[in-house]
Amino acid sequence: MVAIKPKQLALGLATLAVTWGVTLVGVVSAQTLTLYSGRNEALIGPLIEKAKAELGLDIQVRYGDTAELAATILEEGQNSPADIYFGQDAGALGALQKAGRAVVLPASILEKVDERFRSPQGQWIGISGRSRVLDYNTNRVQARDLPRSVWELTTPKWRGRVAWAPTNGSFQSFVTAMRMIEGEERTREWLTAMKNNGAVVYRNNTTIVEALGRGEIDIGLVNNYYLARFKREDPNFPVAHHFTRGDSGSMINVAGVAILDTADSLEEAQAFVEFLLSPESQRFFAEETTEYPLVVGIPHPPEQVPIDEINPPRIDLSNLADLDGTLSLLQEVGVL
Ligand SMILES: [Fe+2]
Repeated sequence: MVAIKPKQLALGLATLAVTWGVTLVGVVSAQTLTLYSGRNEALIGPLIEKAKAELGLDIQVRYGDTAELAATILEEGQNSPADIYFGQDAGALGALQKAGRAVVLPASILEKVDERFRSPQGQWIGISGRSRVLDYNTNRVQARDLPRSVWELTTPKWRGRVAWAPTNGSFQSFVTAMRMIEGEERTREWLTAMKNNGAVVYRNNTTIVEALGRGEIDIGLVNNYYLARFKREDPNFPVAHHFTRGDSGSMINVAGVAILDTADSLEEAQAFVEFLLSPESQRFFAEETTEYPLVVGIPHPPEQVPIDEINPPRIDLSNLADLDGTLSLLQEVGVL
């Protein structure tokens, strides 16, 4: 005896209706869109309220950590109440895709975003872009002395001057990218050399940028949107961005969404994704987070270097899915 959930029944009826060319008005109406969000409520709460009003949907949000919520969806399997997943790391989206849990998005949605920032299989799409960057104290480091690659940070010149946050999800994605680009062995070498060169551990990106401002440390491996928060409070905050070229130090990751195979209504889920890609929502992210809007034609935040001036490594961001491999490597070399 197979238990059929009401949502499957409704979906089945809707499918039949489509097959028979009949319209079943009311059968799948008044549904709740359930979003699992790795983006926090303080940030996207107002946007969700707007979506409810504009789309006329009842939207329920479960907030949590990006990696943990993706794992929860995998554990819940076909019983997951989630319709949509919103994560702030392409690796987590890639993990859902690899497990066969993300449905292919329609071309009308996919084509809004440059192909670098969406799944090549069309199973997730970036909503905003977040680059890795080296932030540095402009009083303590001369622009001409800045490293051209993250490898230079392992030389004696930078001994004890570099900050990193090994427990941070974005840092871990950066390490995953390095494993993809340079291989396991070279990444192990880099991590070990950094550790031996006295890389200083901080709790997260915010504390690194704070410490840079105080001159406590000279250069830090962070994401691009932290500095803008400090600059908005103090335009003279003595920290600036520096991008390495073509290595994982300048990787552009995304916060993005996937519609799950447990979605009750593809139409409603797609309407929500389209809402996130509307010019208004894109401007919201650019203004609130100073992340990069990913829809073509929306201006980049004034605080950030235009995205096309960055030289990120060319990678399929879905492949950032192997977080476990990265965590083991970080533990193995004693960084975690
Ligand atoms: Fe962050």
